Amino acid sequence: MMRQVCSAPGKIILFGEHFVVYNSRAILCAIDKRVEVTAQRRRNNTISIKSNMLSASIRPSTPHMVVDKRTRPFYYIAQSLGMADVEINIRSSLPSGAGLGSSSACCVATAGAVLPLSGMNRSILDVSIEAERTIQPSSSGADCAVCTHGGLIEYAIGTPPRQLDTPIPSDLKLIVANSGVNHNTGEMVARVRHVYKKYPKKFTILSKKADSLTSLAMDSINDIPKLGYLAASNQLLLEKIGISNNTLRQMIRIADRHSYGSKITGSGGGGCIVAITDDTNAHSTLMALSDAGYDSFVARITRTGAST
Ligand code: MEV
Repeated sequence: MMRQVCSAPGKIILFGEHFVVYNSRAILCAIDKRVEVTAQRRRNNTISIKSNMLSASIRPSTPHMVVDKRTRPFYYIAQSLGMADVEINIRSSLPSGAGLGSSSACCVATAGAVLPLSGMNRSILDVSIEAERTIQPSSSGADCAVCTHGGLIEYAIGTPPRQLDTPIPSDLKLIVANSGVNHNTGEMVARVRHVYKKYPKKFTILSKKADSLTSLAMDSINDIPKLGYLAASNQLLLEKIGISNNTLRQMIRIADRHSYGSKITGSGGGGCIVAITDDTNAHSTLMALSDAGYDSFVARITRTGAST
């Protein structure tokens, strides 16, 4: 085989970001914005990585840790799968640095495209988590799990992702609004680690609360107002671990006037919020956030994970 294409969805974390790194459970869903990766064999003893933002050609003998962070995970995938001459083309409809899983979706789609060419018998999820950890050593793997499997999943480190088996209510509408402030997941995870180290007992209590919210939410998927209430409760925990700021708080105030509840989604510091709505308040929530100048959209949950 000379050429393989794989696409993977972006994601929203509905419950449990950050706490999932400390073994709490999280709920994530895949959304209908995807990245597509094409991997093609070349006979030039080079691993090439191209996207609309970058272009790099790297000798396969280069240790992955010295490769630029923007291309390192993709280079790592090719190199670790023994692909000494391959060109990887990435096309994404996901904003990067916004908490919508752009980096994980790219890792998953790259693993899905390169694995069949390599002939190696490894799972897309394992390879993509390994790749993500080359830039994010403490990554929980939650983002790669939902980008691989699609749908709505419960995730905890060390256990296989659990797909929600009941149908997702058709009137559940997730409104995503982007603060426009870029964030760096590594920095936000490090900030939370600092809080964890400084206040371990307090952090453990918050983490247990986050885990209970996840469990309640998993049992309340059909009760949209309750899901909103739980999301707002989750936001209070995220405020306490220092990943919020004035812009995000302002967005949440706007969203909460119309929706059932809203929260930061992803690592915070910038990026996006998600508001839980149904057919009765989706439009007003979307308009309020858009009118306030935030790029906003209705995210549809997709069942399609990594797909070749
Ligand atoms: C980032 O999208 C999610 C975090 O929980 C980090 C992780 O799970 O590795 C902040």
